[in-house]
Amino acid sequence: MEAVVLAAGKSKRMKSKISKIFHNICGKPIIFYVVKALENFKVHIVSNPDMKEALEKMFPEAKVHIQQEQKGTADALSKAINHIEFEAFAVVNGDMPLIKGEDIETGLNILKLKGLDCLIFTSTLDNPYGYGRIVRENGKITIVEEKEATNQIKQIKEVNSGIYIFRTEAALRALPKIEKSSETGEYYLTEIIKYMEKVDTLEINSENMLGVNTRKQLSEVRRIMQRRIIDRFEYVTFIDPENTYVNYDVEIGEDTVIYPNVHLKDKTKIGRECIIENGNIIENSVIRDNVHIKPYCVIEESIICDNCEIGPFAHLRPMTELKSCVRIGNFVETKKVKIGKRTKASHLTYLGDAELGEDVNVGCGTITCNYDGYQKNKTIVGDRVFIGSDVQLVAPVKIGNDALIAAGTTVTKDVEPFALAISRVPQVNKPNWVKKYRETMEKKLREKNKS
Ligand code: UD1
Ligand code: CA
Repeated sequence: MEAVVLAAGKSKRMKSKISKIFHNICGKPIIFYVVKALENFKVHIVSNPDMKEALEKMFPEAKVHIQQEQKGTADALSKAINHIEFEAFAVVNGDMPLIKGEDIETGLNILKLKGLDCLIFTSTLDNPYGYGRIVRENGKITIVEEKEATNQIKQIKEVNSGIYIFRTEAALRALPKIEKSSETGEYYLTEIIKYMEKVDTLEINSENMLGVNTRKQLSEVRRIMQRRIIDRFEYVTFIDPENTYVNYDVEIGEDTVIYPNVHLKDKTKIGRECIIENGNIIENSVIRDNVHIKPYCVIEESIICDNCEIGPFAHLRPMTELKSCVRIGNFVETKKVKIGKRTKASHLTYLGDAELGEDVNVGCGTITCNYDGYQKNKTIVGDRVFIGSDVQLVAPVKIGNDALIAAGTTVTKDVEPFALAISRVPQVNKPNWVKKYRETMEKKLREKNKS
């Protein structure tokens, strides 16, 4: 089977610097979904010169043909039609990411069974504005574009979906006969049926043919695509699927529960029986089984092993690797760090360019001072180390197994196993100091007020 995707248009109505076919829906450009639906087809794409390279890179299997000037959909098809090898082929507009490959395969079969020249996919829309209308008169079908429609024709709710199946020979003969529109100067592919004998229509579900011409349509189509993606996960609980954002490539395991306003991006993989609470943004990360992510964390390019507990309000930056049962609490930031089993950093901590062993306790306010203004330096912490609150680890530095770092210590030298490291100004208590201080200050004030 063979198909031509028309994708060279100027996308004026999108009011965007980039072509509409490259606008993102659930982590992929619109054109990705169109070509994906045609995975059983030999695909031709008609492109404008600017996008050719990007399209060839994205779809190495497809043949990209160039339409120099955007003179309409008929002109676009003329750039690919001489390369068609099969006796019948489909034409699909490149701005319809919700199309179904099965619909098009059915269309091809109907065309052959009925011996048609052209089969037009149609749909009935409550609001047909913008679409070409299907006009039926004395058994003859014509398509009238919105711009050229009379008020009477505008009332018609049956529209051209922008998917067509052609008998190659009939299309080759009819295409050059199309004249340009006196209204817009464009060559409309919809005119082709005027020069064909056997034309029929096939009604498809209107959802599958929605086109993206404007930002409003982009958001409507995104919503439907998001629902389709979420519906794949029959074994996952989404508390509020309408307000959950799961990209195309994401994987999720059985019995995981996803709360509202969660964004799962790129190739993120979530394991089984996880709980991902509200507002989490997880990008390109692997979360293994039974992980609990409390609200409002940002997790980027990280690996989180089984039974970890993260958040609320944690920021796991790229190359964070947590072994099982690690606990990362609120206002903790990590970056390029490996953390061993059962280690806890429960509050207000920065761990960057570091390796921490198993069963380490990282006290509140611990900071790895990894940057000296020129380069990043490494901190290595052994197993069972206890780090008290408000500790600075000035890298490069190594803490041996079972060491204890007293609260408030600034560690600048390596610490050997089982040692206590403490760096504090010794504490001095001065009895009744406050009383004397207040007396002197109040006396000063009184003298000042008198003068
Ligand atoms: C088109 C149909 C309309 C149909 C609607 C369905 C025509 C004349 N009209 O209108 O009947 O109801 O689709 O969505 O075909 N393109 C090119 N080169 C060009 C012009 C367009 O490659 O010179 C491509 C565009 O990139 C787009 C596709 O063809 O992917 C359709 O063009 P678009 O401008 O979106 O057509 P519609 O006005 O939506
Ligand atoms: Ca369109």
